[in-house]
Amino acid sequence: MCGIVGYTGTNQASPFLLKGLQTLEYRGYDSAGLEVLSPDGALHGVKYAGRVSALVERCKVANPVGTSGIAHTRWATHGAPNDKNAHPHRDCSERIAVTHNGIIENFRELKAQLMAAGHEFTSETDTEVIAHLVEDAWKGPRKGDLVAALRNACSRLKGSWAIACICADAPGQIAVARNGSPLVVASTADGAYAASDVMPLASITSHVIQLANSQFALLESNGTITVYDETGDMVRDPSTIDIDWDASAATLGGHADFMEKEIAEQPEAIERLLQGRLGEDGIRLDELRLARDELASIDRVFLIACGTSSHVCQIARTMIESWAKVPATWAYASEFNYEPEVLVTPNTLCVIVTQSGETADTLAAARRMKALGCHVFAVTNVLGSTAAREADGVLYVQAGPEVCVASTKAYTAQLVACALLALVLARANGTMDQNGVARHYHDLSLLPDAIREVFRRSWQDKQASALFRRSSSSLYLGRGVNATTALEGALKIKEISYLHAEGYPAGEMKHGPIALIEQGFPVVAIVPADRWHDKTVSNIQECIARGAHVIAVATDGDEGVASQVEHVLWIPPLPDELLVPVVAIVHLQILARFVALARGRDVDKPRNLAKSVTVE
Ligand code: AGP
Repeated sequence: MCGIVGYTGTNQASPFLLKGLQTLEYRGYDSAGLEVLSPDGALHGVKYAGRVSALVERCKVANPVGTSGIAHTRWATHGAPNDKNAHPHRDCSERIAVTHNGIIENFRELKAQLMAAGHEFTSETDTEVIAHLVEDAWKGPRKGDLVAALRNACSRLKGSWAIACICADAPGQIAVARNGSPLVVASTADGAYAASDVMPLASITSHVIQLANSQFALLESNGTITVYDETGDMVRDPSTIDIDWDASAATLGGHADFMEKEIAEQPEAIERLLQGRLGEDGIRLDELRLARDELASIDRVFLIACGTSSHVCQIARTMIESWAKVPATWAYASEFNYEPEVLVTPNTLCVIVTQSGETADTLAAARRMKALGCHVFAVTNVLGSTAAREADGVLYVQAGPEVCVASTKAYTAQLVACALLALVLARANGTMDQNGVARHYHDLSLLPDAIREVFRRSWQDKQASALFRRSSSSLYLGRGVNATTALEGALKIKEISYLHAEGYPAGEMKHGPIALIEQGFPVVAIVPADRWHDKTVSNIQECIARGAHVIAVATDGDEGVASQVEHVLWIPPLPDELLVPVVAIVHLQILARFVALARGRDVDKPRNLAKSVTVE
């Protein structure tokens, strides 16, 4: 949530800052702004409520000139998304400016103290206190030391932050700080760069420094970067990562929007993930960092995540119990963190699933499980993310940058990653022999082509999307693992079309949601050829009897279902019913996109949302 970029060097700062903000806009897009240090020695700020594209247009007129600057794209937490709350924020002297990602929990108390001491505030944000604290510290005994001033300010903060700070009296310098919110810095012959994640830097360098919590850095225009710890001692070996993403992976590449592109990338993402995983004795998953006997002794698996990733956990739970016969449970991280009691055994494996690797609740849950002595395994998409760094083992799903706020390719790749994990556990504890593992691996390898087949049938989704034209609500139903597909399908349509959708286990429908149904009410039923099929068909009939118009996701050849419903989204047959969610959801992603586009929505940047939820 919120994206930060900074640059100091020999080039003009604005082009990188604006391009960087566009790359980070998935993190929040309520407002955007920048501050550049002008050659006349004053700060030149441009900031507005609205998208980065609006800031780009304003900058064409305002023309901020200067070779050092910081910039921000905001997802509002404190203060409405308006011009005055847009970052960066200045101090009273207007010589210092800061951008911030995170939440300053004690800002009210600090603001009161600062106001009592004569500071004047111009925004309702928590961030502005940082600018005034740096102002006070800058006047202190270590005047001229920007990073010391920022360190002093941070010592008074409670909460989470990634901060970039510029001062007109420290030309050519940017001080940055990290505590809880991600921040990377990089150096080239052209200068020094800071960003919330590696994406804005991917076209500039392949090597970045990843600041750890409580670290600070001073960026200088000659490209020097010095990292400090919270006591002010220099950190000689800061953590670094090599970016292996092709910068073009984060461009549209001819697609109408990132959602379309990322849906289309699913088969290749799964193929990449599966490549070379079948070993002579089970699945190769060295990333788990557990020896065979340790794997064999795992007696409980605890899966934790938020949002779409929590749907991965729900299905993974079934895979683990079915294939590895290990008791598994899942939890929403936001709920888990406040459970009064967490029951773990000495051999409990904790799996966190997080596309971004930065979801605050998921990270907090992982830390809690670690403190309880669990081995924490992260399934994530983002290289060098906090989850990847803090976990004991990490499996990168390698789906490539996911820019659209609605998760698509990361969801299916994470499902496949969890299937691999289930097979590893099954082989290690002897519940599956090598033939069984090879058969399941073969079943997984069929998924990319099955998804490609769904793409060829996307006209079915387009036709079915017409059913949502006159409706303000809908019901998504399924059973077993596809009860979760119903939840995920409903979440997709809610987040990008703003149309209410209720995802529900089909068998539970008559205990309440059936009351929603009236003439013409859209119901999406996931009813593949599986053990739950006939039961779900009965539920479809109950809906039709009450006037619902049903869209069914059904397996090729199921004329019985086809004869009853308005539209069928056909999926090819799969040998394993537990893998159907990976294919069925693709129809629902495409359907949601068509519905949203018909309603004129920005499918990549739905209102009120941010891709990376770095606050609790
Ligand atoms: C997905 O479409 C959502 N935007 C959201 O639910 C997301 O899955 C959730 O915020 C968790 O994110 P993570 O996977 O990066 O932890």
